[in-house]
Amino acid sequence: MSSDLLINLAYTVAAVLFIFGLKFLGSPATARRGNTISALGMLLAVLVTLLDQAVIDYRWILLGIVVGSIIGTLAARLVAMTAMPEMVALFNGFGGIASLLVGCVALSQTGLTSFLLLTIFLSILIGGVTFTGSLVAWGKLSEKLPGRPILFQGQRLLNAGLLLINFGCGVLFVLYPEQPFWLYLAVALSAALGVMTVIPIGGADMPVVISLLNSYSGLAACAAGFAINNNILIVAGSLVGASGIILTNIMCKAMNRTLANVLFSGFGAADGAAGKIEGEVTPMTVEDAYYVLEAAQSVVVIPGYGMAVAQAQHVVKELQELLEKNGCEVVYAIHPVAGRMPGHMNVLLAEADVPYDLLVEMDDINPRMENFDVAIVIGANDVVNPAAREIPGSPIYGMPIINADYARSVFILKRSLASGFAGLDNPLFYRKNSRMVFGDAKETLSGLIREFSS
Ligand code: TAP
Repeated sequence: MSSDLLINLAYTVAAVLFIFGLKFLGSPATARRGNTISALGMLLAVLVTLLDQAVIDYRWILLGIVVGSIIGTLAARLVAMTAMPEMVALFNGFGGIASLLVGCVALSQTGLTSFLLLTIFLSILIGGVTFTGSLVAWGKLSEKLPGRPILFQGQRLLNAGLLLINFGCGVLFVLYPEQPFWLYLAVALSAALGVMTVIPIGGADMPVVISLLNSYSGLAACAAGFAINNNILIVAGSLVGASGIILTNIMCKAMNRTLANVLFSGFGAADGAAGKIEGEVTPMTVEDAYYVLEAAQSVVVIPGYGMAVAQAQHVVKELQELLEKNGCEVVYAIHPVAGRMPGHMNVLLAEADVPYDLLVEMDDINPRMENFDVAIVIGANDVVNPAAREIPGSPIYGMPIINADYARSVFILKRSLASGFAGLDNPLFYRKNSRMVFGDAKETLSGLIREFSS
């Protein structure tokens, strides 16, 4: 068997492992296995590539492995779960700059055809946009940069102009590859474009953008794969590009917004004045909440961003166990965009060892909601806002929500009547079957646990 055939066979095995890895990543129960399988695929791909290419000096590669492993291990151990979105933003950015650099190095090959020059240009354009865009996203999420959207007149025109000039540079570069000026200009314009496309987006919309940038980093890698004629890079890049765009689409759908609306509208800038509701809310003490819960047969917990802020996942689990000991059925209702990153609630609840089979998706819980004695809403606001169902003028009208108000009683654990990410008042707080248990979610839940224990 020729070595080329062997290498491509190994690449095919790696590609199959990536695909199975992605499949397993689709459910919390199999996600760890998915991660391991994908990592094995990548190990195989890297090893075969190292054997394949005439590697000039393995010392550089060894140095890269050691430095990279140290940084990766430290980052994985030191970065808090709440800082995960910004970490992912950085990873995407590094993927982008890696493709840009591969594109630059690919220029030193001999016999560059117009197609190869085009792929080099694309890896530099997409890689550059991904790199600087991800850095801005990281800055916004880590509050090193202002999180609010930065909007100004003529912004879209300017961005469209930047993109057009960049394409022009690409054409000139392919036509006159001996003049590096066009490529340098393309690098600078791509970097500028990355910054300009991310600054109009509000900090809280950043997860959608990060998923999109993740997709871009895959496309950049795919272009780099063509530029250096590496099949596995093309396959891996396409998989990342496609899965990123699917996730972006899922998030947009769950918010009932188009991608264009997320990218250009500056939604995170919305203020709390929209949709004021007349009426009274009914507060409830922790003791009274305990008496109701003690008698409850079935409870659904609906977590949101506030649970992450309060770091209340462990006390939620404790309360769940006490309720179960008391003969009560407890499940968790998970909205796809609860929190501030995809799978935010799943990650937090997994950290507290909540069994996966207690997590029920929105579409499965809604038809059962009327059967629950109590819905405990923990730091969730937009994802349970009935305005999305009932008020046609509301900015979130049409967004799928968890119908917490259909439960017999609703306990809402939050610190005030303040709005959530969308900046909207919530009619749920004013419903007859709703009770507000004001306070930090962790403290309220700890209070409930104390009541149960005594
Ligand atoms: P939000 O609507 O943002 O509401 C969170 C609530 O948590 C706030 O109203 C806040 O009220 C409360 N809270 C904060 N700290 C708390 C604490 N220590 N204890 C108790 N409560 C606390 O959250 P949600 O319902 O999870 O909705 C998520 C929103 O983010 C949606 O609008 C969604 O579209 C958006 N979004 C999500 C994603 C992803 S991928 N998850 C991506 C982009 C946008 P108080 O201040 O009164 O306590």
